[in-house]
Amino acid sequence: MNEKDAIEPHGGTLVDRIADRERAADLKRRAPELPRLSLHVRELADLEMIANGALSPLEGFMTSADYQRVVDEGRLANGVPWTIPVTLSASRDEAARLRPGQEVALFARAPEGGRLHAVVEVAEIFTPDKQREAQSVYRTVETQHPGVAQLGELGEVYLGGKIWLVERRPSPFPGHHNDPKATRAWFRERGWQRIAAFQTRNPIHRAHEYLTKCALEIADGLLIHPLVGYTKEDDIPAEVRMRCYETLMEHYYPKDRVKLSTLPAAMRYAGPKEAIFHAIMRRNYGCTHFIVGRDHAGVGKYYGTYDAQREFDKYRPEEMGISPLRFEHSFYCRRCGAMASQKSCPHADGDRVILSGTKVRELLRAGQEPPPEFSRPEVAKILIDAMRA
Ligand code: ADX
Repeated sequence: MNEKDAIEPHGGTLVDRIADRERAADLKRRAPELPRLSLHVRELADLEMIANGALSPLEGFMTSADYQRVVDEGRLANGVPWTIPVTLSASRDEAARLRPGQEVALFARAPEGGRLHAVVEVAEIFTPDKQREAQSVYRTVETQHPGVAQLGELGEVYLGGKIWLVERRPSPFPGHHNDPKATRAWFRERGWQRIAAFQTRNPIHRAHEYLTKCALEIADGLLIHPLVGYTKEDDIPAEVRMRCYETLMEHYYPKDRVKLSTLPAAMRYAGPKEAIFHAIMRRNYGCTHFIVGRDHAGVGKYYGTYDAQREFDKYRPEEMGISPLRFEHSFYCRRCGAMASQKSCPHADGDRVILSGTKVRELLRAGQEPPPEFSRPEVAKILIDAMRA
């Protein structure tokens, strides 16, 4: 760790598994002779996040010792907090042709297929109990849950082992792409010591803006860190969201205290477990605080409103390193004449501007702007245009 970094990476060292030029050339030369596997989008995202250090201390896909303890206890085999399996899968037929000790070339599936992305040094081949994994990570085995559905799309056998990333996929948002090394350097240059991170998979509405600005009041800087990897079909696409974030940055945030940067991870919708995972990644990007509001990373009615916040109580603050900033359900209150939350506003629901996601989508589809107390007009316009396109 550089002495001036505000926080150590999770597990102590920032992992770098991006092959240097010499290694990449060697792997590319040998790849045609290696057995090959095509990666699921989730695996592709995880691969990049392992390589750039966002998933430090992982240096590869999990072997059974890490996997089992993550599923059973929310820790890696060495005891470091970890809640989400990071796995590489194969079908039974594919796995039957592989042996531990082999290198395997990893490709993207069609339509992106055909290009070598990485090589994994297979240390172990094992068969997971996916029902148990689903129950532990998602708290359900129902396939309507998007995370459980995704788990079903992965192969039945897992391969554990270290990876080398040979060729990166181009970022969809190159102007906002920063690896952990880069965000750390950015914070260091500004001398920021308290850095709050904001995870989001939605456009930033007034409630989100409120949380981030409350955080800004007590932090030196804010990392707006939208997840831009896989999200489910009815979530707003990342390219539309990025336009919303840029507009907000332009009109409503102090530019010298906020950094907008993308997180290329795939969403799991694992609620509490994913909140811990999200926080760990932001620690690796150099953040000291992490915003956790209502139903963080939730979907449907699978998790209680504040379960994600309570998940942090299962770990000692010093082993998490990054501190959760817990926020109650927030809204605009007409009688307060301000953004507020259940903690700070004494008025009744009738005074509060609270709209469900379904209601907001309905309004936008009809070309109507939600009230300015709910969403900034600049953001509403972008969303309406996107719905029409
Ligand atoms: S998430 O899947 O990334 O959690 P979303 O982008 O909606 O979804 O939320 C980003 C963060 O803002 C999460 O920490 C979430 O808990 C919080 N959040 C969203 N809406 C509210 C709200 N009205 N009040 C308090 N926290 C909220």
